[in-house]
Amino acid sequence: CGIVGYVGAQSALDVVLAGLRRLEYRGYDSAGVAVLAGDQVACVKKAGKLSQLEKALVDDPLPGSDATGDGHGGATGIGHTRWATHGGPTDTNAHPHLDASGRCAVVHNGIIENFAALRDELAARGTAVRSQTDSEIAAHLLAEEYAALEGSAPPGGARLAGAMRAVCRRLEGAFTLVALHADAPDVIVGARRNSPLVVGCGEGEAFLASDVSAFIDHTRTAMELGQDQVVEVHPDRAVVTGFDGAPADARTYRVDWDASAAEKDGHDSFMLKEIAEQPKAVADTLLGRLDPALGTLTLGPELGLDPAVLRDAEKVVVIACGTAHHAGLVARLAVERWAKLPCEVELASEFRYRDPIVGPRTLVVAVSQSGETADTLMAVRHAREQGATVLAVCNTNGSTIPRESDAVLYTHAGPEVAVASTKAFLTQLVACLLLALHLGEVRGGPGDELRAAARALGRAPEDVASVLATMEPVRELARGLAHQETVLFLGRHAGYPVALEGALKLKELAYFHAEGFAAGELKHGPIALVEPGLPVIVVVPSPVASGVLHGKIVSNIQEIRARGAHTIVLAEEGDEAVVPYADHLIRVPAVPPLLQPLVAAVPLQVFACELATARGNDVDQPRNLAKSVTVE
Ligand code: G6P
Repeated sequence: CGIVGYVGAQSALDVVLAGLRRLEYRGYDSAGVAVLAGDQVACVKKAGKLSQLEKALVDDPLPGSDATGDGHGGATGIGHTRWATHGGPTDTNAHPHLDASGRCAVVHNGIIENFAALRDELAARGTAVRSQTDSEIAAHLLAEEYAALEGSAPPGGARLAGAMRAVCRRLEGAFTLVALHADAPDVIVGARRNSPLVVGCGEGEAFLASDVSAFIDHTRTAMELGQDQVVEVHPDRAVVTGFDGAPADARTYRVDWDASAAEKDGHDSFMLKEIAEQPKAVADTLLGRLDPALGTLTLGPELGLDPAVLRDAEKVVVIACGTAHHAGLVARLAVERWAKLPCEVELASEFRYRDPIVGPRTLVVAVSQSGETADTLMAVRHAREQGATVLAVCNTNGSTIPRESDAVLYTHAGPEVAVASTKAFLTQLVACLLLALHLGEVRGGPGDELRAAARALGRAPEDVASVLATMEPVRELARGLAHQETVLFLGRHAGYPVALEGALKLKELAYFHAEGFAAGELKHGPIALVEPGLPVIVVVPSPVASGVLHGKIVSNIQEIRARGAHTIVLAEEGDEAVVPYADHLIRVPAVPPLLQPLVAAVPLQVFACELATARGNDVDQPRNLAKSVTVE
């Protein structure tokens, strides 16, 4: 879910709505806002996307919601855009939730695990909970705790923060909470446990949000909150404490993202824009980390890890979810080949529950665009508890996973807004390859091959750009297949993760059955799916560099073609052996085998985006998904 809060001199409603627009990728089942209007709380919430809420606000404007209407010369407001967990996406279940008096409003992201017991306690005290959410209880509890502090603290922010701390001490699970109270104007309070929240510190105004994109138009100064902290936010200051009330230090940092990076910039969708940005994203991620002329790495000082940790590591374990997991599968090939280290790749959600064998000589690499994915975060914590060194590969400065890791290698993709990952994936591949090369150097890997790969990696921005320049036939192909209900993807070696990623993109965007297989497994089952006309996309490794693998996959193509499959073959320039068996041919530049995913993933992104658009789907906000999944 996306959360935003504002206190300052602008119209809170306008600022909060604009912030929600930026955060909508975090969930879009329903949305709502609450603002202080005079000494009342005005709240509107609607099922559906944010546009439904905006329409409702046009039809029925909130009273006194402009900057001059509330008697304070400013305004205070909170908002929420939801990805439903407990309770379906209805108006009632939408946030904010109000207490019974309607004077206290709360938005929540996460899952309150003991909500049923707390709801029963509230019921026993005569407070009925109206929605099916786990969140509403927080509003009732906060109002109760605020009232309970009467006599010991005057009305206002400090009392609201004290009440919030008392509530948090009673909650179990993961939560970000942001609240306002009609008795405490010009203040909002927030709390976080296992779920993200940042403060934006402007000139005479302040923000609370799930991530910085919500306030980047207003301020570049952000303050990160730690685990189990409460913050009381006034226009000119923020007071941070632990849940126990002890004062806490909070680090402020400057956000280097450009506000325009979160705009569509003339493209029809964020996804198209982000696909187009990939050469720059790849170049930015390489910058200062590799000397392309010499083919050597300059990564060591940036990582700041004791070289002995890398030299003496016994194995590498990559943990990640979704698209990031596919980048991890490529990392495994590179780490094993270049650093000669055993490497496992595990879905973060599975890792922690199988008693993984990790210890002080394990290097765990956590790959996450957002740095907030709950499954990955929990896996990181578990690995560190076992004594492993954790290195985060992450795109979001100041997010939780890098903060809780021993070291971080940032991908410099810039903000990625479309839910289906594209440029973040390519930069994750780059970061994983850089890391594997660095490990190879530190551990005395195959020098010539490492230098050749590093030099080739330096050319990746141009290679990706050249793929993007030849995508019109792919778009045409995608439009022609828009009526299909199944597409299969085959790959081997580094082409296998590409096949998985191509299928995931299509599932996410086109809402039909798409599946990636290791081409060698074809004859062990999947070939039974092949019937006349079935589109099968095959990622073919280099005929020169991949040895016998090329011949094997050419045989696989012949096997499916003999059974009537419509073969779409993705092969490098100059590979003539595939031509007779390809109904469609997509060319990519010749690169070393472990770099091929960087060029081969791009046509599959374009394919999925175009096909889904032809089906009339929203490629930026596919149904049922959210970009940043902060619940397990
Ligand atoms: C969600 C997104 C995916 C993403 C995955 C991991 O499922 O929809 O696109 O790959 O989370 O996200 P992360 O931020 O950890 O890379």
